[in-house]
Amino acid sequence: MISSPPIPVAVVGAGAFGRNHARVYRQLEEAGGGVRLAAIVDPLPARAAAVAAEFGGAASFGSIEELVASGVTRAASVAVPTIHHLAVGRALMQAGLDVLIEKPLAATLGEADELIAIAKRTGTIAQVGHLERFNPAVQATLPLLSTPMFFEVHRLSVFTPRSLDVDVVLDLMIHDLDVVLCFVRSPVKEVRAVGLPILSPRVDIANVRLEFESGCVANFTASRVSTERIRKLRFFQPRQYISLDYGRQDVIVFSVGENSPGALASPASSRIQMVKPAVSALEPLRAEIQSFLDAVRSRSEPAVTLGEGRRALALALNIQEKITEHSHRTNLAALNTL
Ligand SMILES: NC(=O)c1ccc[n+]([C@@H]2O[C@H](COP(=O)([O-])OP(=O)(O)OC[C@H]3O[C@@H](n4cnc5c(N)ncnc54)[C@H](O)[C@@H]3O)[C@@H](O)[C@H]2O)c1
Repeated sequence: MISSPPIPVAVVGAGAFGRNHARVYRQLEEAGGGVRLAAIVDPLPARAAAVAAEFGGAASFGSIEELVASGVTRAASVAVPTIHHLAVGRALMQAGLDVLIEKPLAATLGEADELIAIAKRTGTIAQVGHLERFNPAVQATLPLLSTPMFFEVHRLSVFTPRSLDVDVVLDLMIHDLDVVLCFVRSPVKEVRAVGLPILSPRVDIANVRLEFESGCVANFTASRVSTERIRKLRFFQPRQYISLDYGRQDVIVFSVGENSPGALASPASSRIQMVKPAVSALEPLRAEIQSFLDAVRSRSEPAVTLGEGRRALALALNIQEKITEHSHRTNLAALNTL
């Protein structure tokens, strides 16, 4: 239970994911989590009103200007299409509201830089919504990291006609890019990538190989046109293989033990130990929003900063360039226009 007055919050953008933010704020409100869902904003008035009615009868507004004029909130989630993150984030921060901006932080690095500069100038708390960082399986893996050297990452989902303003790299792969950047902690040295549009005009499936200065290599496959849903990250580090399932929220660690001194050498396979670290089930979005509210309350740096959002975006945009280069080199671009 939290004793300070509940923080009044708004959700800006009442689409598929904004509705999830509203649901979680309302759940936290009902659980006495120090927050009150005060407003929903969307240029589609019926949509804003429907989400407001579904989650406790918050006020609904058709624009940021109306929200700001009402003075009903102190913080807001920004869940509008990525191309509008800058305009919406800027208007909110300039009005003094703290913001949780959905991933990807922005559509371009220039826009990301502007958001970072506005947050600094206005002294607002600004977090980016890389929610997999809050996945309990990712949290349980952090203390296990030694020297990760090889990653295989798969994020496959079935096609839905949403987030089509961006390609699969900015839509899905960016989650894993952010997590791997956080795990490896070394600059990226080389990027190789291939990607194809399948059902939308943008790249729907991509495969990427990153090599880091540390020598670590990471392979990523992301698809939004798959027949199955898979979200797995697996990696090797000296004497260990770790398998993380984002969806099931579990982690399995295989370690090869040392030969005991003086004992006859036993085959490595007989020295493999398998451990499943305890992972407490928790919705990543709920953990992310709680962490944002903690930062708002304590006026401290958020757990995932806009700078980290920019870092993941920069890598994603670099990957997009490599995909374009590959598609021209192989004449894929021409084939796709047939
Ligand atoms: N963290 C995740 O796992 C995750 C998952 C899905 C989407 N997202 C992100 O959430 C954001 C929204 O995605 P979505 O799938 O909900 O999109 P969506 O298209 O379903 O919804 C976007 C909503 O924003 C509204 N909108 C547009 N301009 C607006 C403005 N200026 N002010 C207020 N509302 C405005 C639209 O009318 C629409 O209702 C995107 O940035 C996306 O990348 C994140």
